[in-house]
Amino acid sequence: MNKIAVLDFGGQYSHLIANRIRRLGVYSEILDPETPYEKLLEYKGIVLSGGPSSVNDPNSAKCDKRIFDIGVPILGICFGHQITAHLLGGTVEHGFVREYGHANVKFSEKKGVFLGIEDYEDVWMSHFDQVTKLPEGFVAVASTDDCPITAMANYEKNIYSMQFHPEVTHTPCGNIILENFVNLTGETRDWDINTYVDQIIGEIKTKVGDKKVFLMISGGVDSTVAFALICKAIGAERVYGLFVDTGFMRLNEKEEVSAALKELGVTNLHVYDAGKEYIDALKDIYEPEAKRKIIGDLFLSIQEKVSNELGLDPNEWLLGQGTIYPDTIETGGTKHADKIKTHHNRVEKIQKLIEEGKVIEPIAQLYKDEVRMVGEKLGIKKELVWRHPFPGPGLAVRILCAEEADYSEELKNAEVKINEFLANKGFKGYILPMKSVGVQGDERTYRHPLLLTGKPSDWESLSILTTQLTNQFTDINRVLLCLQPSEITSTAIHKKYLTSDRILTTQRADKIVMDYIAEAKILNDIWQFPTVLIPLSLDSRPEECIVLRPVNSQEAMTANFYRMDFELLAELTSRLAKVDGVYGIFYDITNKPPATIEWE
Ligand code: XMP
Repeated sequence: MNKIAVLDFGGQYSHLIANRIRRLGVYSEILDPETPYEKLLEYKGIVLSGGPSSVNDPNSAKCDKRIFDIGVPILGICFGHQITAHLLGGTVEHGFVREYGHANVKFSEKKGVFLGIEDYEDVWMSHFDQVTKLPEGFVAVASTDDCPITAMANYEKNIYSMQFHPEVTHTPCGNIILENFVNLTGETRDWDINTYVDQIIGEIKTKVGDKKVFLMISGGVDSTVAFALICKAIGAERVYGLFVDTGFMRLNEKEEVSAALKELGVTNLHVYDAGKEYIDALKDIYEPEAKRKIIGDLFLSIQEKVSNELGLDPNEWLLGQGTIYPDTIETGGTKHADKIKTHHNRVEKIQKLIEEGKVIEPIAQLYKDEVRMVGEKLGIKKELVWRHPFPGPGLAVRILCAEEADYSEELKNAEVKINEFLANKGFKGYILPMKSVGVQGDERTYRHPLLLTGKPSDWESLSILTTQLTNQFTDINRVLLCLQPSEITSTAIHKKYLTSDRILTTQRADKIVMDYIAEAKILNDIWQFPTVLIPLSLDSRPEECIVLRPVNSQEAMTANFYRMDFELLAELTSRLAKVDGVYGIFYDITNKPPATIEWE
């Protein structure tokens, strides 16, 4: 079969490259970079992915240098760009400036994979190292102010490489580059989502055999599509659905989800109320990864408990999950990838069951947008297919906990420097005494948010300012705009963990937000809208603060903060100001990278 190989060096977007190439109609596979050279001779083109390591680190993954002489087109992306230079005699060094997120690139040559693109293009970067000397036979074809060899080419050998990511939707010219690459490989285009669905159904039948499936259902699009696929493959009577109410759902969500699932034809549905178990298990837990592990483990012990109560023989059942690809990659689930956060369906106990062949995850290779395509093909209701994504651990990862303030002397100096930088820009910056999760250069970061007070003129300049701030100041990975109050005298931390009153506060705020965006008719303009509660006290007040985190994304691997109309935002702020227990109201103006969508 005609196919293209993607060598996965552990980049957050490696799998996305294969996904994009498949969408262009050519079958593409992810392979380990150490795949023997002989096997790679089967492929008509080879892509070298990004990765979290430095090529100069002797322990970083490498590929066989002989691939550059096979004679097929080669595309190096980010780490793949650097390793191309490194293996072929160029030089890679630490840059002076990190570039995370948006950058504008000037192209000096537009041939080969760069055919048909403009002189200047917006691209998505996430790197610190950069190529500083070209290998022999290569020419530099693109640059930014901070990165003179942003892309290079060896036309004779059909080898192209670039520091930015053509596979993410935030690089608008990326598809042209990938399309040109596919054209250069001369592949026939015979791959589509229908082929994929048939293939998945076939795989489910083979894997399940004469067993049955015990499926964890959350009511979101992923588990619903997984359910529909498994039912289609083996019949609804052989599928048992378990819906665990963790207590971290939205207001009234349990009732709505149960009704929707019944309507979908989930005949064997068991709803388990685990609210108290979750609150007890999370008592005194402050650290995000500790929280995530407890949440994931508890899901599994509840599944075991229910399965025992029902007298199900474990040898006759497989555990089903609606895991999608970002869950795996962000948990560091591929060989060279860094762990960004542990998704609830990827805790260690589940990984062990997967190794034992006891888990079935029919959509584990898909991204959210593909899951939606499959959902529509299977005839699932539009409202369900297009529902905003909601994380498995629910509001538990949107209610931040803290034991004490996290603020060092060095941060004071950093804050002074940040305020020097902001001096003529109309804002004042406060580094908050707490942290949130980010993803920078394919690695997890756990850093401070920067809160800005001041009046913005427009979103575009704020967005540019945020990128400058997170690129230049390494103590922060997130920037917030303060909507209320207009001025701040002090910040402090309330000692807080997950409690029912905090859940209720978040549920109320979340309901106001979700109702308001429906009323203002912007619900469908936004991909996901987390409302986050943070244990921050402003001006010595007893209340906490709320962060609004609306984003747009295609597949959750990259995202832009949503630019809400300022008048609508002012109205939403005044409604949220009435929620008991809330004082400060902030708007998250960070893209992904450098921040993740959720805060932990
Ligand atoms: P981040 O925060 O990593 O999130 O940018 C990417 C997408 O994944 C969702 N998310 C989760 N979904 N279990 C899930 O089912 C999880 O543990 C989990 N953590 C994050 C998040 O809401 C976003 O859509």
